[in-house]
Amino acid sequence: MALAPLLPFLSLLLLLEVPVAARASSLGALPEVAAACKAGILCPPVPIKNSDPPPVNVSLYYESLCGGCRGFLVRDLFPTWLMVFEILNVTLVPYGNTQEQNVSGKWEFICQHGEQECLLNKVEACLLDKLEKTAAFLTIVCMEEMEDMEKVLKPCLQIYAPEVSPDTIMECAMGDRGTQLMHINAQLTDALQPPHQYVPWVVVNGKPMGEHDQLLSLVCQLYQGKKPDVCQIGVRSQREVCFQ
Ligand SMILES: *[C@@H]1O[C@H](CO)[C@@H](O)[C@H](O)[C@H]1NC(C)=O
Ligand SMILES: *[C@@H]1O[C@H](CO)[C@@H](O)[C@H](O)[C@H]1NC(C)=O
Ligand SMILES: *[C@@H]1O[C@H](CO)[C@@H](O)[C@H](O)[C@H]1NC(C)=O
Repeated sequence: MALAPLLPFLSLLLLLEVPVAARASSLGALPEVAAACKAGILCPPVPIKNSDPPPVNVSLYYESLCGGCRGFLVRDLFPTWLMVFEILNVTLVPYGNTQEQNVSGKWEFICQHGEQECLLNKVEACLLDKLEKTAAFLTIVCMEEMEDMEKVLKPCLQIYAPEVSPDTIMECAMGDRGTQLMHINAQLTDALQPPHQYVPWVVVNGKPMGEHDQLLSLVCQLYQGKKPDVCQIGVRSQREVCFQ
């Protein structure tokens, strides 16, 4: 799997640290935020007003070790989010082509890329359960772009949710809560209409995204309000998928 091209994003991720921390407190006034903004890195988001039209819903059904899923998350969804997060509502559902079985009253999972994928799916479900939404998203992107995802949980958490210990997340993933969260994701995935044919399976405002759709242009096109400036720029990208 060619993960090397993903690495340039890491520096981008690290630069996000200041604005994300600032977002948790009040917006704007902090000197370090102003400095980051001036450098043109990433400015704090403009809070969405109640009068604004609703954001575009983008749900990603995926599994943690599928190369196409990692590519989509890191090279399509993440950059799109960076550019237009104020008009996006992202939902991640780690499960994908996993299968579940009721083994004497307990849910067990068979994952397409083996046991390690089952564990990492649960780690990501636990991150989504325990962290603030943006912190969970960024921690997952941070992990998915690195080779050894279990090893990078700690440094990624350190950046985006330093108050949460990796042990808490691993306990959740290996315990009953992890199983429960995975069962919920199984139900969400199995309820898809139409059913998913491959992963990454991307649902935008309730409809599966076509193979030739480009996420940023689709989101721009669907958003009912004043479009962000970046919507005038076209972007091309290619996608790989994992069939069942
Ligand atoms: C964002 O998505 C979540 C889950 O998919 C949903 O519950 C929530 O209502 C959505 N928020 C908005 C503002 O559409
Ligand atoms: C799972 O299996 C147990 C017994 O093997 C059964 O009692 C239970 O109802 C099953 N649960 C579901 C949701 O199918
Ligand atoms: C996004 O999803 C939420 C929850 O399902 C729904 O209430 C809302 O209408 C959806 N937004 C759009 C733009 O479809």
